[in-house]
Amino acid sequence: MKEKLLITAALPYANGPLHFGHMAGCYLPADCYARFNRLCQKEVLFICGSDEYGIAITLSAELAHRSPKEHVDYYHALNINLFARLGISFDHYSRTSWEGHIPVVQQFFLDLYQNGYIEERDSEQLYSSKEKRFLADRYVVGTCPKCFYEEARGDECPNCGGNFEATDLIHPRSKLTNSPLTLRSSRHWYLLFDRFQERLQEWIKKKRWKANVMHFVENYIQDLKPRAITRDSDWGVPLPFAGAEKKVFYVWFDAPIGYISATKEWAEKIGKPDEWKKYWLDSTTNLVQFIGKDNIPFHAIFFPAMIMGQNVSYKLVDELPANEFYNLEGKQFSKSSNWFIDVDDFLHTFHLDQLRYTLAANAPENQDSEFTWQDFFMRCNVELVGKFGNFAHRVLTFIQQNAAGKTPHCFALEEEDKVFLETTSHLMQEAKQNFEKFQLRKVAQIFIEIASLGNQYFDQQKPWKLLKNGDMRSRLQTILYLCMESLKSLAIVSYPLIPTTAEKLWYFLGFSTPIIKTGWEEGKKKRLQEGTLLPYPERLFPKIEPNQIEKEKKKLLDMTKQDLSLEPFKEEVDFSAIEALDLRIAEVIKAEKIEEKTKLLKLEIDLGIEKRTIVSGIAKFYSPEALIGKKVVVIANLKPKKIRGIESQGMLLVATNGKLIKLPECESMPAGSVIS
Ligand code: MF3
Ligand code: ZN
Repeated sequence: MKEKLLITAALPYANGPLHFGHMAGCYLPADCYARFNRLCQKEVLFICGSDEYGIAITLSAELAHRSPKEHVDYYHALNINLFARLGISFDHYSRTSWEGHIPVVQQFFLDLYQNGYIEERDSEQLYSSKEKRFLADRYVVGTCPKCFYEEARGDECPNCGGNFEATDLIHPRSKLTNSPLTLRSSRHWYLLFDRFQERLQEWIKKKRWKANVMHFVENYIQDLKPRAITRDSDWGVPLPFAGAEKKVFYVWFDAPIGYISATKEWAEKIGKPDEWKKYWLDSTTNLVQFIGKDNIPFHAIFFPAMIMGQNVSYKLVDELPANEFYNLEGKQFSKSSNWFIDVDDFLHTFHLDQLRYTLAANAPENQDSEFTWQDFFMRCNVELVGKFGNFAHRVLTFIQQNAAGKTPHCFALEEEDKVFLETTSHLMQEAKQNFEKFQLRKVAQIFIEIASLGNQYFDQQKPWKLLKNGDMRSRLQTILYLCMESLKSLAIVSYPLIPTTAEKLWYFLGFSTPIIKTGWEEGKKKRLQEGTLLPYPERLFPKIEPNQIEKEKKKLLDMTKQDLSLEPFKEEVDFSAIEALDLRIAEVIKAEKIEEKTKLLKLEIDLGIEKRTIVSGIAKFYSPEALIGKKVVVIANLKPKKIRGIESQGMLLVATNGKLIKLPECESMPAGSVIS
């Protein structure tokens, strides 16, 4: 029976575009592993999908002025497209908001409940009277209880790195409206993780995961506590009973179950609705879960514990390749601070396999690593062109020009030929072992070593010299044949990393069945068909010009400057121009959106002496609720102007850098105060 392999890659949140960092750390390694195992003719199922619930989603949807549904629809589609363009070969890409996910999650909960692993507790949660809702950690800011930094987040302090509960914050306030929060009792369901401690310990002991993962996990298990698996929200998987309205499961409870529901969706899609059981309910399946290091506790502890509490025996994870982080030129990738590479742009200029190779060769396996343009340049030109592409090109064009463009014949082998073949075959074997151990950096290195070996052999044998010597015809044929053998190995080894290029090379070698259909071992054994008319070869990779790299570096730097590109100063004015302006403090008494989609707000303000209506374009940055009661600065003697049919009697002053808008602070001054 074929070995069954269920490969998953962490379900990415559908709240932003994925970048090279995610690719190098998780999705590309998972893809190479899936492709490698398909090539080894294993029965592979490669599953992923969007993680669409939770506070990370509702918060970023709110900031983007979209409903959570609109938000995840947008990013789900965007990321599917991105994965497709990066050649990530999922067998199925699902999403946690599909209806079939709900019953699976609810059943997980019910099993845990029945088996005594769930406890109801009432606890004090932060409540916003202004927003009329409980606020999750991520919606809360306040003063750090450890270092007294005033802008601490609900779960963590960026200043001292401290971890705590949002309820520990001093002066907690709403991140969105800045309004103060109070404690209110709310009922939640807790999963008693501590009850699984022994079973987890027994199970973990037998794992041979990376040292850093083992170390982390072993420590973590020592101190397991019950954790709330429900939240006050209306975006998520609902609880399976009445009396829990406006409560949903915590996203880290539902998301990992998404691996199972996604497999069910896949099974439905292929018309064999029970096929998922072949993977999840069969102990002979090998479950390999690719993740980034920040996901370790959820995959190594929480999800396994959830599974241990089920009435059905689902597969527990077998391998957990958790990678470190991947940065860009020394800094974290970040869309918001304009420190990223646009994938569209990139693939417009460069070849996908140049990217896949660079990310694999440089994957953050044992420590953080980074994409640099210099490294990309070097890998493309020195390794892909200089070693691999060059070897393929010189062999294949030599055959076109001097051997009638046909696969040469292999005659008797000399000692050096045997050494060449054996060394290559040995390296291939080593590459295979490294694929199995998730060591892509090493695989990439071996791939280039095989190419270098080929180049050396070609140089030593000097086939161009043999051309002049009629007696050496058979020797020349043998040498070229062996060079083609080496190219064959290169195509096989590189297929999981650079599938398009590998298949192209395979075709240039005269094969009509693609590598992926041929298989690793079959391909290795398969003889080149002597005498086959070969297609005319093209170069596998273009050379990159230094100025292309300079251009890219400049583009990156220019993007960050954009952020800071402040307007130049205006012309000097006389003092009279200042005197003419009547700037005042006003208090906002009413605020409403003019139309749902515009950035305009209609404000009613109190200037002490009188009340006025002002239209202001700040809806993207301030919700109406956040403004009520706030002091603002207005120009009080501006001629009234009609905006969208409303007479605006003045103008609000804001601070802006062209992207962000913030109101100046003047809370302590009474309305009507003059600014001079
Ligand atoms: N969405 C999470 C992240 O991006 C990963 C979820 S993995 C799953 O960090 F196991 F929960 F599915
Ligand atoms: Zn702190």
